Amino acid sequence: MSNPAHTGPRHVAIIMDGNGRWATQRGRPRLFGHHAGARRVREIVETCPDIGVEYLTIFAFSTENWKRTQVEVAGLMSLFRRYITKEARALSAFGVRVRFIGDRVRLDPKLVSLMDELELLTSENTKVHLTIALNYGGRDEVARATKRLAEDVAAGRLDPDDVDEETLPKYLDTYVLPDPDLVIRTSGEARISNFLLWQSAYAEYEFIDTLWPDFARAEFTALCANYGGRERRFGGVKA
Ligand code: FPP
Repeated sequence: MSNPAHTGPRHVAIIMDGNGRWATQRGRPRLFGHHAGARRVREIVETCPDIGVEYLTIFAFSTENWKRTQVEVAGLMSLFRRYITKEARALSAFGVRVRFIGDRVRLDPKLVSLMDELELLTSENTKVHLTIALNYGGRDEVARATKRLAEDVAAGRLDPDDVDEETLPKYLDTYVLPDPDLVIRTSGEARISNFLLWQSAYAEYEFIDTLWPDFARAEFTALCANYGGRERRFGGVKA
């Protein structure tokens, strides 16, 4: 249940950037940075209930990330498999409900089975809703949604006159989630890189210099507190 007195963000989305640079600064391969980045996730998830964040959505792998070297892509896929089998089960014990968004078609079937199992295993949890975007791109998501919507129209299940701003999101991967209130991107880049394009139309943004493996509880808490002090008007005027 949401607390009406709570002024912080209910849903925070994070673009976890800077793992590669973090590793390079230490003279280590990029995958070393991704492993350090994966370890950070638990601390951020476990902070959520203390500061009233009910939904956390994190960008783990984009539809564009396939362009990285074969070694890096294979290393990331292996990290995801390991993460789901080990780390995420600890998150489950903490009361985290895990969901995945993105196109599963291009992912290894073994990885997809692990994702399905974890979603099922955590489906009764309610303490934090963690959504992991894996092979996710905002434009790809809207295109897939539009295809399914068109199929429903073609099959006579949907009247084109009923297609509006309320209808389309029902076809998005995020259909069960509220829109993000706050989007954070680490590592100094001020771009959204195809993340939650439709859903973040009215989100606040924080672009911070910290590299993802260094992003810790105190900074996350401060950013969420900062959000509580802002006034959101959704295109309207001050009441
Ligand atoms: C961006 O850093 C990060 C990624 C493409 C991968 C994100 C993955 C993790 C944080 C670890 C795994 C997460 C889970 C949920 C298991 P970058 O490589 O673009 O860094 P750079 O901009 O410094 O090169």
